[in-house]
Amino acid sequence: MKLYDQIKSAGLSIDILINNAGYGRWGDLTSHDRDDYTKMLQLNITTLTDLCHLYIPDMVTQGGGGIINVGSMASLSPIPYASVYSSSKAYVLMFSEAIRYEYRDQGIKVMALLPGGTESEFARVATEKSEKLSERYKEGSAAGTGMQTSHEVALECLEAFEKNKQYILCGGKNRLLHMLTKFMSRQRVLEMVGGMFKKVAG
Ligand SMILES: NC(=O)c1ccc[n+]([C@@H]2O[C@H](COP(=O)([O-])OP(=O)(O)OC[C@H]3O[C@@H](n4cnc5c(N)ncnc54)[C@H](OP(=O)(O)O)[C@@H]3O)[C@@H](O)[C@H]2O)c1
Repeated sequence: MKLYDQIKSAGLSIDILINNAGYGRWGDLTSHDRDDYTKMLQLNITTLTDLCHLYIPDMVTQGGGGIINVGSMASLSPIPYASVYSSSKAYVLMFSEAIRYEYRDQGIKVMALLPGGTESEFARVATEKSEKLSERYKEGSAAGTGMQTSHEVALECLEAFEKNKQYILCGGKNRLLHMLTKFMSRQRVLEMVGGMFKKVAG
């Protein structure tokens, strides 16, 4: 990979790899074309996997390292109207946990970062209806369920990485919501999440 070669030829070594680049597409499955999804899966899954595959041998040689793969709260349940995106983020969580185990005795700490709604360009890229989403979050802010800032997410991420956590779901409200879903059937969770996303992305 070009990026890997350029970093290598500059004589740099990587202590912590953070796979953050990613984007989503919202709407029902056929509202975006197949090429668009292929590009998204290339970035969210294939590139992330390639970078781990390239850097892990170097980290093993240098006696350790760290990897933070950015998943999403969407890694934790299927999301109707973001089906391909949420499935790609489920991969990020599964993959990160699996390689964490494989390399745990070789000084490599792997963690999946699962942000919930975070202020960024993300919603604008994901849907033309992002204003609707922003409005919903503003309403949520008043009720204390709004978006986190990227600064807040980064702080939670670093704190969890220091503690060598397997994954971190960011935001107290998101953690509470996720905990509540553990008492529901998968069908009920699907209905709840589907209903929420239909309003903003359907
Ligand atoms: N914001 C949220 O609510 C939220 C929630 C959960 C998870 N996440 C995840 O957080 C990560 C960062 O997203 P964000 O919220 O910061 O959104 P963002 O503001 O849209 O940033 C996306 C980042 O991905 C990079 N990127 C996009 N397409 C790329 C490509 N084809 N090749 C290389 N880089 C590319 C962008 O680079 P350029 O700036 O050069 O375009 C940018 O740095 C993503 O993995 C996203 O899935 C976000």
